[in-house]
Amino acid sequence: MRSRILHFLLIFGCFVTGNSLGCMKKVCGNNAQNEFRRCPDTDGSCGNYHTERSSGEIIDGVDVRCHVGEPIYAPFEGEMYFWRPYGGKREKSCADQGVRIEGTGQWQGYAVHISAVKLAFFGGHVEAGDEIGEALNRYCFNDRGQNDVEQHVEIKLYKEGKLIDPTHHLQNCMCTGQICESNTRNVLLGDPFKTDKRYNGVRGWDIECQMINDDDEDSPRAPVIYSPIAGETVGRIRLFTDGNGAYTGCDNDGIFIVGIDDWLGYEARLYNVKARADIGFGRKRIVQGEPIATRLTCDNSPDSIFVEVRFEGRVVNITDIITAANCKTPNFPAF
Ligand SMILES: *[C@@H]1O[C@H](CO)[C@@H](O)[C@H](O)[C@H]1NC(C)=O
Repeated sequence: MRSRILHFLLIFGCFVTGNSLGCMKKVCGNNAQNEFRRCPDTDGSCGNYHTERSSGEIIDGVDVRCHVGEPIYAPFEGEMYFWRPYGGKREKSCADQGVRIEGTGQWQGYAVHISAVKLAFFGGHVEAGDEIGEALNRYCFNDRGQNDVEQHVEIKLYKEGKLIDPTHHLQNCMCTGQICESNTRNVLLGDPFKTDKRYNGVRGWDIECQMINDDDEDSPRAPVIYSPIAGETVGRIRLFTDGNGAYTGCDNDGIFIVGIDDWLGYEARLYNVKARADIGFGRKRIVQGEPIATRLTCDNSPDSIFVEVRFEGRVVNITDIITAANCKTPNFPAF
């Protein structure tokens, strides 16, 4: 039944996309791009990562522009806790409220601190995008100058307990997102960017992709494959050939996607997948995360798919944006 509903959704285009692994949602009000306060601000301070704040301190966090009273949203799913950014200092008590969210699911191992926030509730599970409170004035305790800087909330991101730079998880986030339906975190088999004999020795990523057992179905079904890039052209690849041209065995199927927009110059090739029946081949716009294929289910199909990425014709190592370790646009040396 569920697969029929999915099929319906696919045909009518209001598809469910794969999750945007590594990319945080909007944190404040109408600031959809998670823009930071201006730099330099009126007092010369900045809200960028690892820059000097009004107090003279270097802060390993960022200031997202946000007016007092605007709604604050959970940037990723997790368990939420009340947290005091000023550790209970009485003279700063008017701004000493915030939230800590310990990530779950694809954000397992991460935690985010947002301040100052007046919370609407004080704990429990939150989903990305849930409204959790409203912005407070971070400088309410200060009677000198600092009130002129653009209003904002401070965001600090931790990975395995260490502060990391949240900038590209918040803005211009270039991670590929989830690629196989049964693997929310793009877990890799073997080394990243490895050569693989099964796929002509090309370098790429062997992404785990197990069959899916729906509760209401007797036999497992093939997982959906989401496009790792935005593209315009989709084509079919036959990996093996025999004397008469392409060998048409069940396992000999793959697709390629030619990138557009942020992904201009890129091409992604996916092996052990078969294009969606209704998508066909040729020129058409594909958004990132769109279901474009299903995994093959031949007798000898591995429980993984293989992804190869080229930039301007060369195979490139984009491990960090596949695993979401860093979502910054890669800067490849000139070829
Ligand atoms: C690919 O990139 C990752 C992450 O930057 C790095 O750890 C790895 O060594 C690179 N692999 C190769 C073969 O260059």
